Amino acid sequence: METPNFEKEALAAEFKKYVEDLRLDPEKLCDQKIADIGCGENAEFVRAALENGIENIVGVDISFRNDLAGDSKLKDHLINKGAEDVKLHNMDLIVAYASIGSHPDIDLPKTFDNLTSGLNPAGELRIYPISDSETLKGIQRKRKEVENALQSLPEGEFEIEFVKGEEQELPSGEKFTDDLLIVTRK
Ligand SMILES: C[S@@+](CC[C@H](N)C(=O)[O-])C[C@H]1O[C@@H](n2cnc3c(N)ncnc32)[C@H](O)[C@@H]1O
Repeated sequence: METPNFEKEALAAEFKKYVEDLRLDPEKLCDQKIADIGCGENAEFVRAALENGIENIVGVDISFRNDLAGDSKLKDHLINKGAEDVKLHNMDLIVAYASIGSHPDIDLPKTFDNLTSGLNPAGELRIYPISDSETLKGIQRKRKEVENALQSLPEGEFEIEFVKGEEQELPSGEKFTDDLLIVTRK
C-alpha cells in the first residue's frame, strides 16, 4: 500500500511525538530490535519507522484497522495480541505510548513481567506517560499501582528510573507532570 503525502506528514508528526516524549535517540533506532506496545489501530509509529528505514520493528495491539492487517508490507510488523500475553524475544527497546501506563483494565504486574522478560541485556522498556501529582488523587492512585507493579520485578535484574516531565496546570490550579518510566535490564 503506497502512503499518500498527507498521511506521510501525519506519520512524521507521530514519529516526532514518540522521539520527543519517550526521549529516543533516532540515530540508534535503525540498529535496534523494537516493539511498540499498544501501537494503535493505525500503527502510525511503526509505519513512520518503516518509512525512515527502521526495519526491525513490530507493533502490538489488541485491534488493527482491517486494511492494515491485510497489507503485505506491514503484516510481518503487526502482532494482534495483548501486552500481557505477547511473546517478545531479544528486544533492545520496547515502547508504550498512551497505552499500558494509562489503560484502566490492564494487569500491570503481569504486563511488566511479560514485557521485561523479552528484553536483551541493556534493553529498555520505555513507558509514557506515567503521571504524577501532589494533589490529584486519581493520578496518585494510578502512579502507586505502577510503582507497586514494578516491585514484583525480579530483584537486582532491572534499573528503574522516572524522568520528570514539565509541570502542567489544570484550570482548577492543580498541577501534574507526565513522566517517562524507563526500565533497563542490567
Ligand atoms: C490511546 S491509543 C495510543 C496509540 C498509540 N500508541 C499512540 O500514541 O498514538 C491506546 C492503544 O492501546 C491499545 N491497548 C489497550 N490495552 C492494550 C493491551 N492490554 N495490550 C495491547 N494494546 C492495548 C488500544 O487498543 C489502543 O490502540
